[in-house]
Amino acid sequence: MKNYVSASVLSADMLELKNEIKKLEKSNIDMLHFDVMDGIFVDNITFGLPVLQRVRSATDMTLDVHLMITDPLKYIDNFADFGADIISFHIESSSDTMAVIRAIKDRGLKASIAVRPATPIESVFEFLPFVDMILVMTVEPGFGGQSFIPETLDKVRAVRARITELGLEADVEVDGGINSDTAAAVRAAGANVLVSGSYLFGAEDMAAASESLKEDKSC
Ligand code: DX5
Ligand code: ZN
Repeated sequence: MKNYVSASVLSADMLELKNEIKKLEKSNIDMLHFDVMDGIFVDNITFGLPVLQRVRSATDMTLDVHLMITDPLKYIDNFADFGADIISFHIESSSDTMAVIRAIKDRGLKASIAVRPATPIESVFEFLPFVDMILVMTVEPGFGGQSFIPETLDKVRAVRARITELGLEADVEVDGGINSDTAAAVRAAGANVLVSGSYLFGAEDMAAASESLKEDKSC
């Protein structure tokens, strides 16, 4: 299973966004993670469609959009039009889960279900045959720079086991508090797409930091 690093632009310098994206490209980062928050589903408001459109025009990187919004179904076509490649939406949102998956797949994009730390992972099991990825939140969604919640590892293990059991090839993404210390644990538990914001953007050498998320440091 291939490992990927998805850089959360929430930690980027917004006034320098174009240069920040160039830096990600030069650092061999696989994807750009784009956190959309509506101030209702989570206690924060970030950026939306116009910013995504400008980001799309600046890069060919895979755009991994994470919707932390109340009614994702209403906006899937917009995010598809504005350049998303992968769309994660929350199972706790008010939209019908299967309807959102269908809307994303109808646009030819990869569909992913995100789960908050307190939501049982079993809630996504019935949808596994229809999605490309499951996003296990490893912090409470809303803000970058929080500490990893170790109890979420069991959820990563459980969903990876179920995916294997069903003979599927879905990716398991983790998001929140991922750094060189927590990366090995989430990979061992079965995650293969690692989102990282504050750790990557705070690193002196972004390429080395990204590499440290993908591989065990041999000593
Ligand atoms: C949190 C966001 C994350 C966040 C990760 O709600 O979904 O993507 O930016 O940031 P770090 O890596 O700093 O925890
Ligand atoms: Zn995110």
